[in-house]
Amino acid sequence: MLEGVLVLRVDTCCKTFRVGTFGGSELLAVRDVSFEVAPGEVVALIGESGSGKSTLARMILRLSGVTRGTITFDGADISRLRGKRLTRYYADVQGVFQDPFSSYNPIFKADRVFTLIRGTYFPQLSDSDWQRRLVDALEGVRLDPAACLGKYPHQLSGGQLQRMLIARALLLDIRLLVADEIISMLDASTRVDVLNLLGDLRSRGLGILFITHDLSLGNYISDRTMILRHGAIVELGATERVFGHPQHPYTQALLASVPQLHTKWRDLDEPAPSAPGSLTPSGLGADVGRLVEVDHDHFVAVPATDESEVSFR
Ligand SMILES: Nc1ncnc2c1ncn2[C@@H]1O[C@H](COP(=O)(O)OP(=O)(O)O)[C@@H](O)[C@H]1O
Ligand SMILES: [Mg+2]
Repeated sequence: MLEGVLVLRVDTCCKTFRVGTFGGSELLAVRDVSFEVAPGEVVALIGESGSGKSTLARMILRLSGVTRGTITFDGADISRLRGKRLTRYYADVQGVFQDPFSSYNPIFKADRVFTLIRGTYFPQLSDSDWQRRLVDALEGVRLDPAACLGKYPHQLSGGQLQRMLIARALLLDIRLLVADEIISMLDASTRVDVLNLLGDLRSRGLGILFITHDLSLGNYISDRTMILRHGAIVELGATERVFGHPQHPYTQALLASVPQLHTKWRDLDEPAPSAPGSLTPSGLGADVGRLVEVDHDHFVAVPATDESEVSFR
């Protein structure tokens, strides 16, 4: 955890969905997740598809309720925010999601996303001041205002639409950005621009929850890393610790699955190397157990049944 006032605290949060017909059954998509994001800190949330990353993001953005647990921002329980306080919350916390198309209504011009922000947050700004602010935000994400304003979503690329959404978040002086797989749809050169932009914003105090399934990206960008599996955090700690000394068998297996530069094609015909540590059912099972601190600010999930036997390196 970096120095500074706490911004976001997620405390033992759970989310269940009812799935299936005739009453169906309950799917526990997020299980007892707890973490914090401080100002100027980038926390990577890494997990496979379906591990609960977006569900968590939606709960933080109040797009989805919390089944159990609390999420606080500046000490205030976000589930209790109403009216002006909720509007204020969205001036501090914004989210950008993987699929930019879902944030636009195809029958309206794409820049309507900015007009809505203006109406709510900047009604007092003159047209020229608003225009200046908008152009700054667009140029901040390397978009040419002339190329994107006045166009319909289908006239713009996925990358342009995504960068417009990032610009929209930056029009407000937000303090926390929830970035859910935001660069998966960008081309390589734009990715670098967006990563540099995030680095810049972080150094100016923005807290970022950077959600990704891309291990190397998470390693590159974050100060701390959380590994999510089946909705639960199995490992959480300083990024160099989690990547340099992974302790949970699942983290070890994930890291071992990334091809190395020296991997030859013929090596791929051989059986996959097993991850260091044991891949026992308890280490990778559905029963996650509780997080135990194995080093300073480095936590690993220990199955409840195994706690007495666990010894970490
Ligand atoms: N609205 C919903 N109704 C039912 N199940 C859902 C809903 N949203 C997500 N899920 C389920 O919750 C789990 C986690 O989904 P999600 O948070 O989207 O994962 P990720 O973003 O890590 O890929 C998945 O099994 C998914 O099918
Ligand atoms: Mg997702």
